[in-house]
Amino acid sequence: MSELQKRLLPEADDEEQEFYYDSQRQPRHSCWSLSIWQAAGILLSLLLTNLITASFFVVKFDRQSVESDAAAPAGYGKLDPFVKLDTQYRPIHWNTEYSRNNRSESDPLWDAILPSHGFVAMDRTAIKAQGWPESMYLPSDEGKGVYLLEAYHHIHCLRILRKTFWEAVDGKPFTFHPNAHIDHCFDTLRQSVMCYADATPLYTFGDFTAGDGQLHKCKNWDQLHDFATKNTACYVDGSDDDLLKDHFGVCDDGNDYLKIGTGLSRD
Ligand SMILES: *[C@@H]1O[C@H](CO)[C@@H](O)[C@H](O)[C@H]1NC(C)=O
Repeated sequence: MSELQKRLLPEADDEEQEFYYDSQRQPRHSCWSLSIWQAAGILLSLLLTNLITASFFVVKFDRQSVESDAAAPAGYGKLDPFVKLDTQYRPIHWNTEYSRNNRSESDPLWDAILPSHGFVAMDRTAIKAQGWPESMYLPSDEGKGVYLLEAYHHIHCLRILRKTFWEAVDGKPFTFHPNAHIDHCFDTLRQSVMCYADATPLYTFGDFTAGDGQLHKCKNWDQLHDFATKNTACYVDGSDDDLLKDHFGVCDDGNDYLKIGTGLSRD
């Protein structure tokens, strides 16, 4: 392990303690007997509690639908009229093709990804009606506004962070010179993780992994991908020295070259 890796990775010993599951702790049971009146009383109160709980959920559900995008504040870009992403249960794996030990196998997967697929051009009248904030005009069509879909922005940040990390570890020249953009990428991912606050309870058995293959509630990426394909802004990434207009007018082939990835064992 290199000096840099040692600094970047947590000390195993410090964390070991937190992972251990306390097998000594058992729930306590006590023995009790009931008279028929006590039993009837308990049944009645259970029934009442259930009724109160059920009505609470009805009210709560109702309130949630009122708070849906229908009443979203101005400046929140409502997507419903344009695209609806289904939610589905899907496993998230500890390792996939994207985290192979042998980086000559995983690097090409990351390098192939086209985050610029997430630039869309939308009819300005239609999106104004849905509260979308102002954005730059498409150079070739002032009737359209250009937007970058957040998930593709995140992927763009992840790619830069990963590439820069391994180049630093390997002592190679930087493709993306570390600058304020890197700080932005770490921070935008931090804010999004907190914003989406995924509370999936990950199982763990103290082997320094958690939740391998466990089901999560996931949005359907294919539907997001297809929305971006259908509304492409025909934007390509290039060097920072390019003029902005030179990024436009080049359409990709309708593919973001991202796959979900399937579970892998590390050995
Ligand atoms: C890593 O993968 C490449 C490409 O598949 C292969 O040529 C190479 O032998 C692998 N290296 C190791 C150490 O397994």
